[in-house]
Amino acid sequence: MSNSEHELRVSKIKDGTVIDHVPGGAALPVLAILGIDGTGGETVSVVMNVSSDSLGHKDIVKVEDRELSEDEVDVLSLIAPEATINIIREYEVVDKHHLERPDEVTGVLTCPNPDCITSGNEPVEPTFEVLEDGVRCRYCERIVREDIAELIVR
Ligand code: CTP
Ligand code: ZN
Repeated sequence: MSNSEHELRVSKIKDGTVIDHVPGGAALPVLAILGIDGTGGETVSVVMNVSSDSLGHKDIVKVEDRELSEDEVDVLSLIAPEATINIIREYEVVDKHHLERPDEVTGVLTCPNPDCITSGNEPVEPTFEVLEDGVRCRYCERIVREDIAELIVR
């Protein structure tokens, strides 16, 4: 562990999820993926750009009283592939998993191309192939590299 106890910047949480090893500067997109903008009343702690042995700099997001859905985890893996999801119950880390990038995601992102078949009234589920540095629509082949969080289906 790179941060010793006296360097702890935010308290441990009792119950919820800690998303650790987020690339430095990516905490806000992570919050966007989780649909958190502060208006929902969730208790959230964000640490940005603290030093990390493995990443140089990392961000940490702690969301209390919430565990993540599979779709949220899939989308998180697109922007924070090195992140670790820690489930906390009664102050203990009861589950820790590393994200795995799926080969494709279906029904979690919408295509930004207004001419895409998935943008019309056809009953076609938007599907994106996951690339090294972004996602590609399976139908119109539009590639999105930035602001992927804005495409999340709500
Ligand atoms: N954490 C927390 N509240 C708790 C327990 C842990 O906020 N009640 C946070 C820790 O601060 C850390 C993350 O959850 O950011 C993972 O905790 P832990 O597994 O104890 O830390 P490390 O061993 O450093 O994790 P890793 O090996 O994944 O780097
Ligand atoms: Zn498309």
